[in-house]
Amino acid sequence: MSKITVIGSINMDLVTTAEKFPGKGETILGQSFSTIPGGKGANQAVAASKLGADVTFIGCVGDDPFAKTLMDHFNRHGINTNFIKKIEGEPTGVASITIAEDDNNIIVVSGANQAVSPEMVEQHEDVIAASETIILQFEIPMETIEKVIEVASKHGVTIILNPAPVRPISLEALERVDYITPNEHELAILLDDQEKKAFYESHREKFIVTQGAEGVAYYDGEEHLVPGYSVEVVDTTGAGDSFNGALAVALTKGESLEESCRFGNAVGALAVSKLGAQTGMPTLEEVKQFLNK
Ligand code: RIB
Repeated sequence: MSKITVIGSINMDLVTTAEKFPGKGETILGQSFSTIPGGKGANQAVAASKLGADVTFIGCVGDDPFAKTLMDHFNRHGINTNFIKKIEGEPTGVASITIAEDDNNIIVVSGANQAVSPEMVEQHEDVIAASETIILQFEIPMETIEKVIEVASKHGVTIILNPAPVRPISLEALERVDYITPNEHELAILLDDQEKKAFYESHREKFIVTQGAEGVAYYDGEEHLVPGYSVEVVDTTGAGDSFNGALAVALTKGESLEESCRFGNAVGALAVSKLGAQTGMPTLEEVKQFLNK
């Protein structure tokens, strides 16, 4: 079984559906409200676990009722929660999500996710060293992300970095990462100066660029686009997370980049067919059935 460790965020998603997005200063009536487990790190962990990987999570929850619900949820999915710390006096991370007009908008309040520290990474160096693959996102402090990259690369662990929500990161850290998985918008922001653009040109093979329903682009000396699957979309929240979780599972199993991207696209397509980031995430069996159709 592939050993994957996710170091990242855990949120409770507060999901409202409405016919339209409210304008500035406007109050409107919505259609439904649900609390659904989310957070980019947690979503990627659940995606990988549902696909059969052995997943460990390093992160933080607060000392509120959401924490218990989210820990129970991880345990139900067989994710190792031994390295998730409860932070006294802090709220668990939440994301306020509105789904309307075939799109969404999201406000994340990080809460306990901000307490995922470089010291925690040092404390759990053995867990990182024993992993085959590490998945990282940008919803925990940047100094922690850079520490994970330093420790994981020291131990030769494969690192997948999903730079979302995008913000600046050092070139030294990017250099040590094996795969960087921005969408096109995130890529543009990531390459915000000449030095970074030059880095991109000389390290193209590290970048796997998601392009929504179009598919995923990668480079191995030549440009490739692995096309996406056309499905009826209910909610795109977590589509990228499903892709990243699946990509990690396939790459860790030794699949080719092309095959891993195709697998990730299938998982992403199935995930958007239901409301909620994790609700539609498929099992391996469901992905096989989908690909056989
Ligand atoms: O990528 C989707 C996720 O972003 C949501 O689950 C929300 O919690 C935010 O972190």
